[in-house]
Amino acid sequence: HQVLNQVHNHTSVGTHVGASQVQAAPDHHSDEKENERRRLLHVVQAERQEQAERSVLISCHATNSEKKFLKHLSKYGDIKKHFFYQSFGLYAVVEYSSQESVASLLEHAAIPTVNHESMVPFKSRLLSLRSLASVGSADQQSGQHCQPQTSPPISELIQRLSREESIDQQITALTEAYQLTEENIRLRFLVCSLLKDIAAAYFPECTIRPFGSSVNGFGKLGCDLDMFLDLDGISGRNVKMPRSGLSLEYHMKSANSERAVTQSILSVIGECVDKFGPGCVGVQKILNARCPLVRFAHQPSGFQCDLTANNRVAMKSTELLYLYGELDPRVRSLVFGVRCWAQAHSVTSRIPGAWITNFSLTVMVLFFLQRRSPPIIPTLDHLRDLAGPADKSVIEDNDCTFVSDFSKIHIHRNTAALGQLLCEFFDFYASFAFNKMSINIRKGKEQNKPEVVPLHIQNPFETSLNISKNVNSTQLERFVALCRESVWILQQSATNSPSGESGATPWGLAALLQPLQVPGNKGRKRRSREPASERIKSLLESLKIKNQS
Ligand code: CTP
Ligand code: MG
Repeated sequence: HQVLNQVHNHTSVGTHVGASQVQAAPDHHSDEKENERRRLLHVVQAERQEQAERSVLISCHATNSEKKFLKHLSKYGDIKKHFFYQSFGLYAVVEYSSQESVASLLEHAAIPTVNHESMVPFKSRLLSLRSLASVGSADQQSGQHCQPQTSPPISELIQRLSREESIDQQITALTEAYQLTEENIRLRFLVCSLLKDIAAAYFPECTIRPFGSSVNGFGKLGCDLDMFLDLDGISGRNVKMPRSGLSLEYHMKSANSERAVTQSILSVIGECVDKFGPGCVGVQKILNARCPLVRFAHQPSGFQCDLTANNRVAMKSTELLYLYGELDPRVRSLVFGVRCWAQAHSVTSRIPGAWITNFSLTVMVLFFLQRRSPPIIPTLDHLRDLAGPADKSVIEDNDCTFVSDFSKIHIHRNTAALGQLLCEFFDFYASFAFNKMSINIRKGKEQNKPEVVPLHIQNPFETSLNISKNVNSTQLERFVALCRESVWILQQSATNSPSGESGATPWGLAALLQPLQVPGNKGRKRRSREPASERIKSLLESLKIKNQS
């Protein structure tokens, strides 16, 4: 339970750093305000959960005006916040000031009667607005300003980045265009809360928490929604049996293993989501995976959802990634740049397979940042050593302890610019000894590979596991070749970037997002003969000059 409280308190989401903060040279030593902001973030997850419980999701294809819509909904109570978005039609998220208003709204809603169809009478906070007035004329529909829930297409991003004046600014602009918005984060918590209402039919005391990129700070608009069904808060777990006298305990069904319990819970809840869950489609139960899950699409939000249970280590790694992302604004920006680059070249894919995952890629960026001189972020072992007694966390024999108090973390002063780091990242992995070495953010140093696999990245908490064991040698070779090519492109940009031009030809990061020459091409081979270290030296020199000017 204590472990869970920590997870609860520390995994948080907040408004992300803005452009000015991204560009500012970080001064980590005396920034108490910054630490205060981070501490506050630790309670934001609980706040967002509570917000979500006071919210409803309404399909508004019959809305004739925002004013009328709000007037109608205000009948049930004070509206604190609302916004519209498009996803197979117009939807609105409406947050009331109190939960009683939601109850009153639900009380007045009708069960639809549709000819030739029968309804499962499962009531939820997903509703449709009906109107008796005529519907659908163009000017009536145009009243609402919609909040985008998807990132701009890559072609548009390339154009946008080409107009920036430095690679640093390009990376910052990319982060801003792709990161989750306030509205999108609210929608993610609302979907968790709607799902909780379904799971609560069996487990009234359960919670459903988002984890992974929805909350770790590295999520891109459109990323999947990873959810964790949390049953550890159920009362009775910590009730101590008296040493003498009478007492009662629950009579419960037992199973062979923890895993079997998780599988049967997910199987039943998956069935419930499939048969009763409003808006939930394409439900797949993937119960034999290492981490059993139920996958489905939540149509009203447009989110691809993965529901897991008993997955506390993943909650810890989410918390760790979040912490690293908050330590220095360059961490998030670099991860966004690299993730976007990887997506543009199909290094990563939404389809499971032998590809490198975003999670692995993020750990690779963290490792690279630990290997800078001086290091930009500390090792996980160091974060563990700084931990206080309240931070102690052991999950299934895995030591998941690390410090939660940001102010205890001393950061070395390394002022390398983002553009320089991006280039160094590609150069670092273009020549990394993948054949012999394993990437290890716990030690912050490569270790001998414990097994023969193309890519070995140690799981930070379950240290005997390799988070990239799915990756085959073809995919790794492609990654390395693309890293080499990218160093070359950045070198070109550094020497002939059309700085200041109103951005016609893609350059710098924008050029990296365009199709690159495939490995095996003659031109690429010729360039590769030149030692990487020589190439990068001249490139870094020119980048430094650009930065100073
Ligand atoms: N995770 C893990 N070990 C793995 C894979 C995943 O601990 N081998 C955890 C990580 O905390 C990860 C989360 O599960 O962040 C969700 O996994 P996934 O959805 O694959 O990655 P995301 O970080 O959410 O990235 P994406 O935006 O691609 O969904
Ligand atoms: Mg995810």
